[in-house]
Amino acid sequence: MKTILVTGGAGFIGSNFIRFIFNKHPDYKIINIDALTYAGNLENLKDIPDNPNYIFIKADIRDRVKINEIFSSYNIDNVVNFAAESHVDRSIVEPEIFLTTNVLGTQVMLDTAKKYWNVNPCDKYSKEYKPEVKFLQVSTDEVYGALGLKGMFVETTSLMPNSPYSASKASADMIVRAYYKTFGMPINITRCSNNYGPYQFPEKLIPLMINNCLKNKDLPVYGDGMQIRDWLYVYDHCSAIDSVLHKGLIGEVYNIGGNNEKTNMDIVKLIVKTIGKSQSLIKYVKDRPGHDRRYAIDNAKITTQLGWRPQYTFEQGIKETIKWYLNNTQWIENIASGNYNKYYNKMYSNVCVDIKDIE
Ligand code: NAD
Ligand code: DAU
Repeated sequence: MKTILVTGGAGFIGSNFIRFIFNKHPDYKIINIDALTYAGNLENLKDIPDNPNYIFIKADIRDRVKINEIFSSYNIDNVVNFAAESHVDRSIVEPEIFLTTNVLGTQVMLDTAKKYWNVNPCDKYSKEYKPEVKFLQVSTDEVYGALGLKGMFVETTSLMPNSPYSASKASADMIVRAYYKTFGMPINITRCSNNYGPYQFPEKLIPLMINNCLKNKDLPVYGDGMQIRDWLYVYDHCSAIDSVLHKGLIGEVYNIGGNNEKTNMDIVKLIVKTIGKSQSLIKYVKDRPGHDRRYAIDNAKITTQLGWRPQYTFEQGIKETIKWYLNNTQWIENIASGNYNKYYNKMYSNVCVDIKDIE
């Protein structure tokens, strides 16, 4: 029995993680704190049954007073820090909140955890912590920057982030590492590749394309569409975090990925074909500034050292994902009835070029 403080648990991966933990460890207690930004949605958790082991608290990870209050009210064993501004395109338009949430918010979480977990919190030399405590920082492969046609990211690849989003995540990784090195804080950092699956906000490639297909809207492909991402079904990311939480060696970084490299154009064409729409919906649009060309994760460390393996092939995962969006159109409609359309019109006001004029 553990008490896990999950931050950002009303978002895409956090909500899937809470579901995963309750299935795998039904006796665990989860405290979910989330600021409910545009990306946080309590509907993502509506199937979590009323349960004394599940507590939701609306809180901002930057709010030191509130975070302190939460740590003083519950006996927290682990923190899994998902809370973040997560969308690269938004970070290009509005970078500042990425720094305050992703960097300063992470530091507030670390600092408060240290205060409650260190056996002698007033002694700056103390590296003694309560047994079994751990702070797990959920990071991303984007901190490594972009790859050329060859090679893969390993845990020792230099951090070379290219967007304000990835720079903020790399900065958070650095402060987490500093708490380990300076204060002996028990931490792990995970760096996962692109996730897809149920409950992903339709600003990200896969749900955006599914949603647009369903509405017969243009499918905006940035640049030449030949950028490569390494896709992992969200369930497999959750199971990898669970492995690191329980078996990860203190202070270590673990890459997470399932060897699934695809070009963006391949993904979009697959979605169009699966839903049965016309390829003429696909439009090339102006490229994302600073667009990373290719990501690829070498998962040898987590597979050999922790025995983790992805369970879903891409074919299974994408089928499940499309099926979920087709069966949950109301979920998307509820999002669309908020500020989503305004966001979409602002972001996608570039001139579209028809795919047949390019291919
Ligand atoms: P998301 O945008 O769907 O969810 C983020 C959640 O954090 C939302 O519920 C939001 O309300 C909450 N949040 C934002 N700011 C907050 C704050 N100041 N205080 C408290 N809560 C706040 O993101 P996601 O895709 O689920 O990503 C979760 C984490 O995983 C992020 O840290 C992201 O960097 C990382 N990650 C994502 C991917 C991916 O492909 N989506 C891959 C690797 C790593
Ligand atoms: O690699 C992990 C990262 O993956 C996570 O850290 C981020 O939180 C997550 O958002 C994701 O970042 P990407 O920028 O790779 O994901 P996104 O879905 O925004 O874009 C995937 C690719 O598709 C990218 O090359 C840009 C392209 N794209 C995206 C959108 C939204 C398009 O061509 N058109 C679009 O409309």
